Amino acid sequence: MEPARWPGVARDGRELFTPNAVPGVRVYGEELRASGGREYRRWDPFRSKLAAFLLRDPPADTLAEPRAALYLGGAHGTTVSHLSDLWPTCPIVVIEKSPATFVALLGLARRRTNLLPILADAQLPERYRADVGEVGFLYQDVAQRDQVGIFLENADACLADEGRGILMLKIRSVTQRSPAGAIVREARERLGRAGFRLVAEEPLAPFAREHVALAVRR
Ligand SMILES: C[S@@+](CC[C@H](N)C(=O)[O-])C[C@H]1O[C@@H](n2cnc3c(N)ncnc32)[C@H](O)[C@@H]1O
Repeated sequence: MEPARWPGVARDGRELFTPNAVPGVRVYGEELRASGGREYRRWDPFRSKLAAFLLRDPPADTLAEPRAALYLGGAHGTTVSHLSDLWPTCPIVVIEKSPATFVALLGLARRRTNLLPILADAQLPERYRADVGEVGFLYQDVAQRDQVGIFLENADACLADEGRGILMLKIRSVTQRSPAGAIVREARERLGRAGFRLVAEEPLAPFAREHVALAVRR
């Protein structure tokens, strides 16, 4: 295993790993591997769009540790567990609206104390902005029609002026009617009009079909 270009991430060929913050404990059945006196968890690109994005080789500072982060659509915590490995001192507020899934997030946060789950609708950031405060990194993975609008409203509510973000755009949740290229172009332009510069744009196939990762910076 050797260091990958993103701080903290290790790789063995095409396989990515993060240092396990809770040694001996798996989050989603992933492989655990010892190397150089540390334990690592394999980061599965079929289970995590962020791992799929890294396999497209985005810039080295894509995962630079922020002071605080806001993660929209935590689900069972697969991806956020790897961010928790990579950013041990960064509070990561995780928004999830499904109560059943939220229970799993709460369980994860008991051992990973940098995770702060909130049961809330990401379309209503005014309900949690005071609890979140200002963050340097915004991550969004919610399959909603107005994904760009949700990203921008959360950025307005919580993202610092120099903040960065990643929007995992699920193309067919926006509309079934327009071609994929037009949907991505519209998302890119809307982010640009709101003052975001595109740092990387990558399709996530074959790991997540009909998804495009948009990494942006204010
Ligand atoms: C594709 S899953 C997220 C997977 C997760 N990001 C990962 O990689 O481990 C989408 C999640 O977003 C949640 N979600 C959908 N709409 C939401 C909303 N408006 N507010 C908060 N969570 C939402 C769903 O309940 C679901 O758990």
